Amino acid sequence: MEAIWIQGGNQLAGNIAIYGAKNSALKLMAAALLTDQPCRLDNVPDIRDVRLMVQILEGMGVQVRREGESLLIEAKELGTEVPPEPVREMRAGIQVMGPVVARKGRIRIFQPGGCSLGPRPIDFHLRGLEAMGARVREEHGFIVVEAERLRGTDIYLDFPSVGATENLMMAAVLAEGTTVIHNAAREPEIGDAEKFLNQCGARVSGAGTGVIRVEGVTSLQGTSYQVMPDRIEAATFLIAAAAAGADLTLRPAPVVHLEAVLAKLSQIGVDWESPDPMTLRVRSQGALAEGYRPVHVRALPYPGFPTDVQPQITALLTLARGTSIVTDEVHAARFGYAGELRRMGAQIWVEGRTAVIKGCSHLTGARVTAPDLRGGAALIVAALAAEGESLIEGVVHLDRGYARLEERLRQVGARICRLEV
Ligand code: UD1
Repeated sequence: MEAIWIQGGNQLAGNIAIYGAKNSALKLMAAALLTDQPCRLDNVPDIRDVRLMVQILEGMGVQVRREGESLLIEAKELGTEVPPEPVREMRAGIQVMGPVVARKGRIRIFQPGGCSLGPRPIDFHLRGLEAMGARVREEHGFIVVEAERLRGTDIYLDFPSVGATENLMMAAVLAEGTTVIHNAAREPEIGDAEKFLNQCGARVSGAGTGVIRVEGVTSLQGTSYQVMPDRIEAATFLIAAAAAGADLTLRPAPVVHLEAVLAKLSQIGVDWESPDPMTLRVRSQGALAEGYRPVHVRALPYPGFPTDVQPQITALLTLARGTSIVTDEVHAARFGYAGELRRMGAQIWVEGRTAVIKGCSHLTGARVTAPDLRGGAALIVAALAAEGESLIEGVVHLDRGYARLEERLRQVGARICRLEV
């Protein structure tokens, strides 16, 4: 089994290049199934979730080739049976549902798995497809969705679900007539999907607002598209720098997509600047020397504070001077990492969706286990700032979303490596 070893207390200095956004790349890979023509996606991170999505696509007969940072996808052949194994491991596998039903009139897919952050049903996805005329049934753990041709309609989401918005938006592209998604999620990755789809000939508008309108077309053509930079990755490095101490520059970092995170970091007392809209620089003597202020954080749908940065900022707040409160309004159980932080000396109590964090004098390195992807990132932040050595197990979770993590941190001065344990 692999683990990440970190000797804490080293300041970081230099530049880190931010890779393409996981949560956009995965959806664009699914969107490429809407056309039988070749699509080229540039700036696709080489992470485990992307590899799982490649397995899903290949399992349906799609040709996928990696060329450096790019993926070439050609869905001339497209089956309707989704291989169960990769979907069991990654919830984003369900994003193929909308495109495949729209193009082939049927899909059979296993109930999805992924990070365990509380119950994560897919009822919005299924109800939306039903509203568009699809028939949905369950068969021994599999879901079968069928429709001759989807019909455009008005869809109201009970919660602005990112995945449901994207799935239904993609399905609507090849539906007959106009679909309007109300209470749509406004995450920037949805804007990336809109741009990609429109470049293929779709007629989508409204991404970034709560109402998305899709006028159905009969077919799409292939295109070449550059995936947007990963705002969550940028936020992770930013917070790691603030915790450990650093003079670190991140590029390309989409400053406009990080407003809620940057505002919160300012409130905490982190010294950051953005010399241009794609660059972030953070300078810090480390959390303890800086005497960061405690804050209240509420993770909300975009443009609120991102739930995917909630664990990392909580790790930083374990070293603030006073008591912070962090609430997650998006995922019901996203504090699986709190017990691990406690092993490092953090004072953190969780009650339902809320954590209370009393800043401590220092963290101590420990042997801990990443419970999920961003929970693992919180442990990396804590270990970089801690005194002594840490060993982080559960690396498989970190590999889902961060490419070459140790190498990139080592290049800016962290003492970090991967071990067999
Ligand atoms: C996406 C992101 C994930 C992020 C999340 C919220 C990807 C691959 N993953 O996940 O990193 O944490 O957005 O920003 O992009 N819900 C339902 N029924 C549904 C769908 C969702 O009840 O049919 C609930 C979920 O249980 C959750 C909330 O809605 O509590 C938000 O989920 P959603 O926005 O759909 O997240 P994902 O798209 O799965």
